[in-house]
Amino acid sequence: MFQQYIFICCVIFLGSLEIVNGKSTGFKTRITSNGLNYANKVAMNALAAKIRTFSVPDQHGDSGGVEYDLTNMRVTGFTEPQSNIVFLPGAGLQWTAHGAGVSMHGDFHYKIHKKWIPSISGSGSFDISVSGLDFSINMILGVDVNGRPTIAASGCSCGISSVNIKFHGGWAWLYNLFSGKLEDTVKKTLKNKICDSVTTQINEEGGKKLASLPVTVKLGRRFLLDYRLLQTPNFQPSYMETFHKGEIFWLGDETDAPFEPPTMADIGDTQKMMYLWISDYMFNTLGYAAQMHNYLVRNITAADLPPDERGILNTTCTSFICLGSLIPQLQKAFPNSTVELNLFSGNPPTMTITSEGLNVRCGGKIVLYARQNDNSLAYLMSIIATMETTVNVSIASELVYGKIYDIKLLLNVTNSAVGPVAGGFIQMLINNVLKTVLIPKLNEMGQKGFPLPVTGKIRFINSSLRLLQRAVVIETDLNYTG
Ligand SMILES: *[C@@H]1O[C@H](CO)[C@@H](O)[C@H](O)[C@H]1NC(C)=O
Ligand SMILES: *[C@@H]1O[C@H](CO)[C@@H](O)[C@H](O)[C@H]1NC(C)=O
Ligand SMILES: *[C@@H]1O[C@H](CO)[C@@H](O)[C@H](O)[C@H]1NC(C)=O
Ligand SMILES: *[C@@H]1O[C@H](CO)[C@@H](O)[C@H](O)[C@H]1NC(C)=O
Ligand SMILES: *[C@@H]1O[C@H](CO)[C@@H](O)[C@H](O)[C@H]1NC(C)=O
Ligand SMILES: *[C@@H]1O[C@H](CO)[C@@H](O)[C@H](O)[C@H]1NC(C)=O
Repeated sequence: MFQQYIFICCVIFLGSLEIVNGKSTGFKTRITSNGLNYANKVAMNALAAKIRTFSVPDQHGDSGGVEYDLTNMRVTGFTEPQSNIVFLPGAGLQWTAHGAGVSMHGDFHYKIHKKWIPSISGSGSFDISVSGLDFSINMILGVDVNGRPTIAASGCSCGISSVNIKFHGGWAWLYNLFSGKLEDTVKKTLKNKICDSVTTQINEEGGKKLASLPVTVKLGRRFLLDYRLLQTPNFQPSYMETFHKGEIFWLGDETDAPFEPPTMADIGDTQKMMYLWISDYMFNTLGYAAQMHNYLVRNITAADLPPDERGILNTTCTSFICLGSLIPQLQKAFPNSTVELNLFSGNPPTMTITSEGLNVRCGGKIVLYARQNDNSLAYLMSIIATMETTVNVSIASELVYGKIYDIKLLLNVTNSAVGPVAGGFIQMLINNVLKTVLIPKLNEMGQKGFPLPVTGKIRFINSSLRLLQRAVVIETDLNYTG
């Protein structure tokens, strides 16, 4: 039962990383008191539901010549405690519960078999109620060598104000004479048992769950996001923060990018349940990995253009304007051909986030060929290109959307096999290709949204997005739909 409670708490404030101070990190999360209160509420409801329908396993025992069976035990009442989880600055979390109560009904049967007395047996039913149960435990959180969270329970204390036992049936009047002594024993045993059991559950079950939390997630078919913890979470009185690597690798090649995460600007807000800092380092490591594995190359032919725009790549025009009419020497040298473009990124694309927006720069080479009648390719020219664009980002639910606008393109023609060409025509061609092929493709991806690495059981409510120096901050309330 407690395991469920601990687990739900973990899912909500540590598991929400299944998704990101000192050392620089690629992303960071902040969970506030509001988040913790919400996690506590959800976990308490789950725990209460579990206890109310809890069926206690039958007990068979033999103690000092008394053989007994306790059967058909069931919970008949549960008083939900006032439960509270708070941050323990510098250490972890503290869970306290006040005034819990539980009552149970069950049947018993016993048999005394001692040598010097005749065998005695009896049976009946009993009611037991425990009330005024107070409980407190600390959970110290850390990080293991693999960047997964660790948990250790400490300082458990438990108090019970009363235990009441009533027997019914058979010799009940006799047993009830002695129930006071039994109540004392149960009270003492229960106090220790609860602390032992919760401590074990946290250390063993909780520890096991955390030790098996994923710290990487595949992005598409080629990339891997590594979001292991880089250091012990930081616990403050009103929030906790976790620091994650936030580096994107090529799948199967976890070579670190040769640059460090930036220092992300901070905000002091603690109103929302959770804050997620995503630095431009994540994009930049993605760009680096893609560049290193020659992923940023693309060939564009007429087939990639919308049907009514394909004619632009003809060297001989039939009706309207085409490259051949813009660059007459092209039509002369390579008639009846279509131009193909090979795009190569020259350097990893880079992103810089500022409060103004997401600025993306990339650059590379575009090589133009003419596909001739005999299907051979003739080299035409190379173009050195740099592109700068601003991306508008927004958030809805657990998806971040992006839209490219405002593209600045700089082009220089080099090594032309068809003599000097006017830059304006080339600019027009490349702009056209960007506007009709690449940008719509990227925007299409951006419109679908990029999923944040959160578990499917957590929904973002009231989310908004803020741009800071070197980071996007997602501010959100949470809704757990376990
Ligand atoms: C692009 O086309 C060139 C020939 O023009 C070819 O060598 C290259 O493999 C193609 N690249 C891709 C990614 O299709
Ligand atoms: C371009 O060339 C193709 C085939 O060579 C032809 O079918 C098409 O009509 C041409 N388009 C223009 C606008 O010249
Ligand atoms: C180009 O195609 C047209 C029509 O198919 C043909 O009349 C013309 O001779 C061709 N020109 C060359 C140089 O192949
Ligand atoms: C970004 O997009 C939103 C929603 O479409 C729009 O309101 C906002 O003005 C855009 N920002 C910029 C800088 O264009
Ligand atoms: C293009 O060439 C001009 C002059 O040679 C140079 O100043 C400019 O930086 C070049 N642009 C690119 C994108 O290489
Ligand atoms: C959303 O924000 C409003 C205003 O701050 C708040 O009252 C509401 O509880 C929030 N919703 C959730 C699900 O937290």
